[in-house]
Amino acid sequence: MSTGRAAVITGIGSYVPPNVVTNDDLSQRLDTSDAWIRSRTGIAERCFITPGTSTGDLAVEAGLRALKSAGDERVGAVVLATTTPDQPCPATAPQVAARLGLGQVPAFDVSAVCSGFLYGLASAAGLIAAEVADSVLLIAADAFTTIINPEDRTTAVIFADGAGAVVLRAGSANEPGAVGPLVLGSDGELSHLIEVPAGGSRQRSTDRPVDPADRYFHMLGRETYRHAVERMTSVSAEAAERVGWRLEDVDRFAAHQANARILEAVAKRLGLPEDKQLSNIERVGNTGAASIPLLLAEATAEGRLAAGHRVLLTAFGGGLAWGAGTVVWPELQTF
Ligand code: UT7
Repeated sequence: MSTGRAAVITGIGSYVPPNVVTNDDLSQRLDTSDAWIRSRTGIAERCFITPGTSTGDLAVEAGLRALKSAGDERVGAVVLATTTPDQPCPATAPQVAARLGLGQVPAFDVSAVCSGFLYGLASAAGLIAAEVADSVLLIAADAFTTIINPEDRTTAVIFADGAGAVVLRAGSANEPGAVGPLVLGSDGELSHLIEVPAGGSRQRSTDRPVDPADRYFHMLGRETYRHAVERMTSVSAEAAERVGWRLEDVDRFAAHQANARILEAVAKRLGLPEDKQLSNIERVGNTGAASIPLLLAEATAEGRLAAGHRVLLTAFGGGLAWGAGTVVWPELQTF
């Protein structure tokens, strides 16, 4: 259903927990090194939550900043994209909405792992188009350290914790901040590449004993890498074409911060030079669903992303699920 009401970004915010963990810190307890992590992933440090902090806590912090940026204390709905909800049931979004003092608004979680922000944008735009709400707070937050196996050096050095959020309001498709056509896809045939094998109904419906390692996140890195490059390249080109941009028209490329080498490969295939690529993976690692809004918020605060820039967004991750979209960046305040 489309009523012709576009979703327009009017505020942005982000939050990372204060506990910074360097590659050398990780090398103390894992068979890895600063040199390996930097050269294979581009990550130097990242932020981890400390015991007692949850995804909802990160989401509230980012949400507060986005609401302040929008200059609006109220929204008509809350969408939370996360891989690591506070509890298996119920969704975390209603509690986040309540903690933000937003009242009894519609609130639900979106589960699309590292593509959660783009799937969340589609959900938020749908709420606006369907006139469920005139404005939506979309938060993407992940506390990946709660599902990462601390003994698994192939994932423990990449994934981290953080949150990003945007406020969207009903507007017209041709104004700055309007979210362009979104292209989304999935391939469940390859769900085994990124998964937490145990803890869901498939495992809980049996009485077979669970391997403790299966309660953690598993990723077949090399194969995932290949799909990430191919999918992010093709879906980015498709999104640019859908909105009528040539790739050389793109001013800023904001891709899910999966791995610096993946981002370089995708940008190279798309012909996007380095000065157009936004990146913060060196300081925050791979923060899952949070990575794109966290990147956008930081780049806005630093002035790397400014009003009028034509921005191409893309993400890829577990599901498999991927997506891309475009937005002409609006004038935004950051806090
Ligand atoms: O967020 C959305 C989805 N995720 C992604 O898109 C991530 C995709 N994958 C990746 O980013 C990369 O595949 C990784 C960073 C996970 C791994 O990098 P790689 O260059 O693909 O390494 P690899 O898996 O091919 O492993 C190369 C070697 C192996 O040793 P051998 O078999 O060559 O002796 C690994 O055991 O590096 C070893 N290795 C490590 N060594 C030191 C793997 N992890 C580490 C580590 N420290 N942390």
